Amino acid sequence: MKRARRKGAIRRREAGIFSANVNEPTPQPDSSPTSSQPAAKPAEARAVERVHDFAQKLQQPSMWRTVVDYVQWQRTARKLKAEGKQAPDMPDIAPLSINLDLTTACNYKCDHCIDWDILNSKEKHTDDELRASVTRMAERGLKSVILIGGGEPTLYPGFVGFVQFLKTLGLAVAVVSNGSRGDRLLQAAPFFTEGDWVRLSLDSGSNDVFRRMHNPSSPTLTLDEICSWMPKIKAANPALQLGFSFVITWKGGSRGAVKVIENIHEMVMAAKRASDAQFDYISFKPFLERHADGSEVMDPAKSEAELQAVVSRIQKNLEEARAIVRPGFRVLASTNLRVLMAGSWRDYTHQPKVCHMQMLRQVVTPLGTFNCPAHRGVDKAQVGDKDLWSVPPAAQHGTARILDEFDASHECREVTCLYNSTNWWLEEMVEAGAPLPADAPGSEQNDWFL
Ligand SMILES: C[S@@+](CC[C@H](N)C(=O)[O-])C[C@H]1O[C@@H](n2cnc3c(N)ncnc32)[C@H](O)[C@@H]1O
Ligand code: SF4
Repeated sequence: MKRARRKGAIRRREAGIFSANVNEPTPQPDSSPTSSQPAAKPAEARAVERVHDFAQKLQQPSMWRTVVDYVQWQRTARKLKAEGKQAPDMPDIAPLSINLDLTTACNYKCDHCIDWDILNSKEKHTDDELRASVTRMAERGLKSVILIGGGEPTLYPGFVGFVQFLKTLGLAVAVVSNGSRGDRLLQAAPFFTEGDWVRLSLDSGSNDVFRRMHNPSSPTLTLDEICSWMPKIKAANPALQLGFSFVITWKGGSRGAVKVIENIHEMVMAAKRASDAQFDYISFKPFLERHADGSEVMDPAKSEAELQAVVSRIQKNLEEARAIVRPGFRVLASTNLRVLMAGSWRDYTHQPKVCHMQMLRQVVTPLGTFNCPAHRGVDKAQVGDKDLWSVPPAAQHGTARILDEFDASHECREVTCLYNSTNWWLEEMVEAGAPLPADAPGSEQNDWFL
């Protein structure tokens, strides 16, 4: 197996771990889940944004069949294993959703970049092979693709054509971009359909902080210029949701030895700017660092007192931001920011031994295919090569192996995992043994991002 490029001494202390790259699709108003199957930990689930209520999404008719096939296979595999027999082959299914890193190339040098260690690697996708892999997955139930990184997706030479290709497969598509190639986003805009989204990681309200945080290779690129593309993109396709992403940084935060530029004081300015520039929403989330083992760690301040001071500044800025934006524009605190502010992040760290989400959502990168966005590029989380899914039986075999070998109760013991309640819900279904309804328990929400 190829050695993934994770390195760097990262401080470890009292920490929560989220995923910087976890999907953040079209945001809905906050709501409690209405899953007809009870989640294992309803109190926790209530703290989760609707876009992160994955158990509810998995009960949609379009996804339920895969869930049933997977749970039934797990039951049989466990039973046979307990009897000392060989587990059966996995059914002919594929993940329902993937994070797809089209490239590791990046034209910024963000001081805070969580994927710094895997940027600008030599490994590349071969377009034909990548298309073959995604096609094989789509034939087996894949519903959505989030084009993201390690790397800047719009720098992939065939970016626009690839978006078009994914749409011809009938997939829901989202893009997380640094916004530097507004021209390419505009070219791709007509191909997106209802429910698709593009989220730009801008993290600032002023041109000055934007440039100091992101260090773009272009000597002239400004936040003003990036935002000026939004009305054109919106005009090209009003159905496409446009998000302004803001990772909140504060004094004391660092990437390894690099101190990050503080932007917490620009939250309100950024919300106003996003509202004026025709974004649909702004999403605030906390800054993460890399744990020594490669997972993503939140290390907000040197002491509990400093953390509290940061949290109250964030709360005050959120309130101010909500007060000054145009009607209909949404100011969102990501789930991980909300659990940070509520002090409940520890509730999300007790994972079952088997992470079932490894089957339902994977991460395909030029460095290989990984089991989770929180472990992107980490050797022990690698399911297989980048084109693993071009041969589905091999991919299913690799997935069965990692389901067996990767002990999430240990490997993710400090991870504040957004999939926590969904994993427990799946675990209970596997263990319960009761017949599963053939008809999906939930209704179709047309949200397939996991
Ligand atoms: C690594 S970037 C790659 C995709 C694209 N180049 C971009 O800038 O959006 C993916 C996401 O991770 C977020 N991110 C990067 N570093 C982070 C950190 N230290 N903490 C939290 N989120 C981070 C970015 O804001 C972005 O939304
Ligand atoms: S439990 Fe699964 S989904 Fe959660 S962080 Fe671990 S590998 Fe990722």
